[in-house]
Amino acid sequence: MCGIIGYLGAKRVVPVLLDGLKKLEYRGYDSAGIAVVEDSQLTVRRVKGKISLLEESIRSSPVDGKFGIGHTRWATHGSPSEENAHPHQDCTGSLVVVHNGIIENYLSLKKSLKEEGHKFLTETDTEVIVHLIEKYFQGRLEEATLKAVQELDGAFALAAISTQDPDKIVAAKMGPPIAVGLGDKEYFISSDINPILAYTRKIVFLEDEELAVIEPEGVSFKNFKGNKLKKTVDEITWSPLMIEKRGYKHFMLKEIFEQPQVVRDTLQGRISLERGKVLLEETGLSPQLLKAIKRMVIVACGTSYHAGLFGEYLLENLIQIPVEVEFSSEYRYRDFKVDEESLAVFISQSGETADTLAALRAVKERKGKSLAISNTVKSSIAREADGILYTHAGPEIGVAATKTFSAQMAALALLALYLAQLKRKIDKKATLTLIQELQRLPHKMEIILNAEKSLEKLAQSFLPYSHFLYLGRWISFPVALEGALKLKEISYIHAEAYPGGEMKHGPIALIDNQMPTLAVIPKDRVYEKMMSNISEVKTRNGHVLGVVFEDDEEIKDKVDEVIPIPVTDPLFTPFLTVLPLQLFAYYIATKRGADVDQPRNLAKSVTVE
Ligand code: F6R
Repeated sequence: MCGIIGYLGAKRVVPVLLDGLKKLEYRGYDSAGIAVVEDSQLTVRRVKGKISLLEESIRSSPVDGKFGIGHTRWATHGSPSEENAHPHQDCTGSLVVVHNGIIENYLSLKKSLKEEGHKFLTETDTEVIVHLIEKYFQGRLEEATLKAVQELDGAFALAAISTQDPDKIVAAKMGPPIAVGLGDKEYFISSDINPILAYTRKIVFLEDEELAVIEPEGVSFKNFKGNKLKKTVDEITWSPLMIEKRGYKHFMLKEIFEQPQVVRDTLQGRISLERGKVLLEETGLSPQLLKAIKRMVIVACGTSYHAGLFGEYLLENLIQIPVEVEFSSEYRYRDFKVDEESLAVFISQSGETADTLAALRAVKERKGKSLAISNTVKSSIAREADGILYTHAGPEIGVAATKTFSAQMAALALLALYLAQLKRKIDKKATLTLIQELQRLPHKMEIILNAEKSLEKLAQSFLPYSHFLYLGRWISFPVALEGALKLKEISYIHAEAYPGGEMKHGPIALIDNQMPTLAVIPKDRVYEKMMSNISEVKTRNGHVLGVVFEDDEEIKDKVDEVIPIPVTDPLFTPFLTVLPLQLFAYYIATKRGADVDQPRNLAKSVTVE
């Protein structure tokens, strides 16, 4: 949801900003811009569209500078256009600001600033920030910024530079993330660590209501009250290579193929075959507390919500307590209750999703206990929850989540087994059987991925269709939802997912020979029921593609196309069944010419409501 970058150091600033913006482009890509300063000369260049167009504009008419800031936008207020692209300038043309987030009181601020004589040129909420800083500016950018942020309501991560207070970048955070990179006499600010990693692994994460002042002599930190802060420096272990495509055509395809390793990495060090145990003491929640939990709610959005549904079926099966799954955007506004014996689990790969963060805060306000499952170290959700269980998927750059879904399921499987152990709902033998199977999953995932070409061929033959139905029941229902979401978001094809048994209550009316059905039918407790549902589709001229166990002979006459997967424990089939659905969506989308890594209208990290 918008990416911010800034650089001050000995390098020429423009290539550093452009390189950083490309790595942040997954956060938004409807317009982009940079502002750089050299010898008191401020140059702003902005374009509508992607970073490649900004690069083209700079190639044909070069700009240069010693320090600067940049932005890639996902529009909230004001259409995607060059005028609304960041950085935004003040009335004097000497001060610029880039911003990620939403200023909720921008209309009233705009009105009073206009009355004071400020001239507004855009429809954005951001423009009020630059005029507010201008209003308070008396020579020191950080002091003016500190005064300005006191008047802002809403969420913001911002960076400002001025020719009147040169060689300085001021960044402030209230909501969306800001990381500050500390290099060798060079400093970076960025919405995430990816652009910084090529230069330094030393990172300081700003907390809410904090400000960083970057100067040639170093970086200083203050809170919004103006008090100096001593911040800890984190050493990041992610390697810059993790964010390269490494021979794959798209990040999404690379990330699909990384899933076996991601599952291995997320399980690594957390299971002991010798002791027949899951070892999850790391979360920060005590075993006594977890043992006493009698109810759970899982709160998340999008793909993370689907992982949460998988968790619901698994947790109910293994620990037999009530588990509900809620959309973050709904849960935060509900009149929900929490008590001593309930645990709320927040799943978010980015750890910054605004709705999930708000739902977490709503639980904390009611004194509820919380556990986060996140892929992003030190993200807001990871920091604010009482406990944290990290997934080890590495950076996910493709906007459509794939490998983080598998990593989230692996984390949930560990959590479910750990709770079952604590609550003595499972004996050592049964635990061992399940953890051995968990460890076998990556190899089984590789078998499916190696058959990628057959999925590509299948996708080719389904290119002409504009509507798809996805069916699954019990633990395969979340997979049907996830398969449909992947197809929708990257190929812009209409897809609906239903629990197989619900189809007869309405959606069956859609079935004809123009609406193929992808049915997830591993052999589990609802297998026979799914067979009936498929025959209901077939009787109505529907075409069925079945994701089925490879040894399932019976199904072969019942579906039109068989997509085989290796046999696994019924509780773990989603790790395998989701892979062909991801590949199917990927190939349909790429064959239709869609930009799968950056689908229209989307952004990876949704830091606005
Ligand atoms: C879909 C997708 C989104 C995210 C959702 C939550 O492919 O990526 O639906 O799953 O925006 O994001 P996180 O997990 O970062 O909270």
